[in-house]
Amino acid sequence: MKKFSVVIAGGGSTFTPGIVLMLLDNLDRFPIRSIKFYDNDAKRQKIVAKACEIYLKEHAPEIEFTYTTDPQRAFSDVDFVLAHIRVGKYAMRELDEKIPLKYGVVGQETCGPGGLAYGMRSIGGVIEILNYMEEYSPNAWMLNYSNPAAIVAEATRRLRPDSKILNICDMPIDLEEKMADMCGLKSRKEMQVSYYGLNHFGWWSEIYDKDGKDLMPEIKEHVAANGFADAIAKTDQHVDQSWLETFQKVRDVYAVDPTTIPNTYLKYYLFPDYVVEHSNPEYTRANEVMDGREKQVFGACKEIIEKGTSKECGFEPDVHASYIVDLACAIAKNTQERFLLIVPNEGAIENFDPSAMVEIPCVVGSNGYEKIVQGAIPRFQKGLMEQQVAVEKLTVEAWIEGSYQKMWQAITLSKTVSSAKVAKDILDDLIEANKDYWPKLS
Ligand code: NAD
Ligand code: G6P
Ligand code: MN
Repeated sequence: MKKFSVVIAGGGSTFTPGIVLMLLDNLDRFPIRSIKFYDNDAKRQKIVAKACEIYLKEHAPEIEFTYTTDPQRAFSDVDFVLAHIRVGKYAMRELDEKIPLKYGVVGQETCGPGGLAYGMRSIGGVIEILNYMEEYSPNAWMLNYSNPAAIVAEATRRLRPDSKILNICDMPIDLEEKMADMCGLKSRKEMQVSYYGLNHFGWWSEIYDKDGKDLMPEIKEHVAANGFADAIAKTDQHVDQSWLETFQKVRDVYAVDPTTIPNTYLKYYLFPDYVVEHSNPEYTRANEVMDGREKQVFGACKEIIEKGTSKECGFEPDVHASYIVDLACAIAKNTQERFLLIVPNEGAIENFDPSAMVEIPCVVGSNGYEKIVQGAIPRFQKGLMEQQVAVEKLTVEAWIEGSYQKMWQAITLSKTVSSAKVAKDILDDLIEANKDYWPKLS
């Protein structure tokens, strides 16, 4: 069997060790000859890379391992780019969350003004990596889960429409694992779903088991009672209290439209007042992550480096991320597996903007994806999506054109923002905070 060469872009990410261990767990179906890390922060990446180097020497010495900040070295001779960069890192995530909260508006990583601010930073970073891949390994595929995926996907559609990039999110995977658990199934792979929406903005409309039995009644009963809170995804990475509250809140989101099962992220748009009341403007999710996951991962890395061995280290495979291997295998081995991908609509949702980047089921094989038509969607979802897709498109246009006006319109139009005045105040603060990252707006 062919052995593959992968580069992890965002080598210094808190998710990198978990993804490396997950890749090692899947070598039987996805054999690897080379793993490279690429990051533009040499110091941060080095800590993760040195620890992974020791781990790989002890567990898979046959795999060649390198890490670099040099794009040519990183992107030459690779089959897959696994991209999870965070332009501006947690310091900027913290500002994305805290600036809107200062004005009584939802402060969230990918939703509302904070998500748009993050989008304005990510577009350039992701396009840069795509350019490197196309220059040094033109046959490679990029599996991108850098956020905010909706805006990144729209930007790649506009700026690099022919690129071999698949944009994917792990939230539906986690939620499908929970729904499988509600139905007593072993895995989400025993379900066949219909789903439509934008990234972090979608709904399940049908769910069947392998025999064609309708699972929606059972799932709805659970969600109506407790949201996703009483289900267990065996692979769960979302275990902090704030995530448990988000899973619980899905009960109220579901009540607004009990014909579908909503994505957790809809709470930010349908219950923004609740979200703001339950946020601490001094201590947001970015603080939780810095005090939790980042400390834990970098602590484990430093311990491995000091001891010179990974024995009894704190590294754990990110089992939930095995969907990345599923996706790579779909391309490498033409498995024709179904995934929810973020792709140009072009009629898949019949009554929605053909140029929108929508999240829908697709069949993936060696030549890319084929979309599964979702037909016409109800007025409630369509109304919400029309507004949100305009927000996302205006943000990408603001980036391309350097337009202050369009960025102000994007923030004004976000369902999380109550007025154009508030939008302008937030925008002016965001511009100041992002002056090292955003294009100049005028
Ligand atoms: P992190 O800050 O720990 O890691 C990101 C890394 O990217 C950092 O080491 C940083 O130096 C690097 N980076 C920033 N800009 C870069 C650039 N231009 N080129 C190369 N490297 C660059 O962040 P994290 O919390 O581990 O998350 C990483 C990314 O994965 C984020 O975008 C996050 O939103 C995303 N994510 C997405 C999903 C999904 O479902 N789509 C799930 C989990 C995480
Ligand atoms: C989910 C989403 C990701 C997001 C992550 C945030 O998995 O799908 O897009 O990045 O949650 O998790 P965090 O622990 O960083 O708040
Ligand atoms: Mn996501």
